[in-house]
Amino acid sequence: MRDLLSPDLLRGRNVFVSGGGSGVNLAIARACAQVGADIAICGRTEARLEAATEELRAYGGRAVYAVADVRDEAAVVEAFRTTAEQIGPMGAVVSGAAGNFLAPAEQISTNGFRAVMDIDLLGSFHVAKAGFEQLRETGGNILFVSGGQSQMPFVHQAHVSAAKAGVDQLMRTLALEWGPLGIRANSIIPGPVDGTEGMRRLAATADAAVWAGMVPLGRFADLDEIGTMAAMLLSPLAAFVNGAQIVIDGGMSLSGSSAFNQAVLSASVATS
Ligand code: COA
Repeated sequence: MRDLLSPDLLRGRNVFVSGGGSGVNLAIARACAQVGADIAICGRTEARLEAATEELRAYGGRAVYAVADVRDEAAVVEAFRTTAEQIGPMGAVVSGAAGNFLAPAEQISTNGFRAVMDIDLLGSFHVAKAGFEQLRETGGNILFVSGGQSQMPFVHQAHVSAAKAGVDQLMRTLALEWGPLGIRANSIIPGPVDGTEGMRRLAATADAAVWAGMVPLGRFADLDEIGTMAAMLLSPLAAFVNGAQIVIDGGMSLSGSSAFNQAVLSASVATS
């Protein structure tokens, strides 16, 4: 799929990806590296970041990392500083770091709710704010990895639904505030994607057939399909796309989340 893009699409542009050590975020970093970008990733687990940067360098460009939990503003600021020192200022930022678990709302502790809000929403704010000066310098853009929960409530996802709705409104506000400065802001909403930690967690309570049945195309996305669309949105091909929420879900949002909700609710009634 990525072969359809010009190999020079992001040549000369540095892309910072939070949570870039694995899953959808690594797929985005991979797609960007393949079309010429140099990459900086941050995350919590050094071994994972090391392995990911090694993999990304195989595409011929530079790839560097910084260990940073997006909940820690100072660590995120430092991550932008140290990675830019090595490869130069970022021409694009992907805010992808996220946390998730499934639990009925009445069983989510304040700490659990806060953990997800802090990673997904506050973390996105930290990444955007820390990247702002570099994006202004380069005329870059920011892409948030949101989720279907921002539009369609999913049961046992009260915390994530609240956080992702916040991420999308943050994105829209930045599109208004930063657009006049030449910085675009957008988000993507991936549907179910094969081979991700998020899907593994969600799939634990509703089997793959329920998910696939919710998608008009009848299957999960592969990681490459999400990465390729993200690379396009970060590139000049999307120069007039600002404040947009791009849904990459095979049409799942058209049928809504009710099949998943019913499967999860009946499983929890059966076990209670
Ligand atoms: N059900 C209910 N509560 C849960 C839970 C679950 N399955 N998993 C964690 N929590 C609660 C914990 O009990 C804790 O609350 P408490 O102090 O009141 O007991 C709170 O969440 C924080 O948990 P902790 O493990 O200490 O936080 P953390 O900062 O290490 O991890 C999470 C953050 C909870 C989001 C964790 O799931 C995580 O690190 N996820 C990253 C990976 C991921 O989710 N990937 C998918 C991306 S879509």
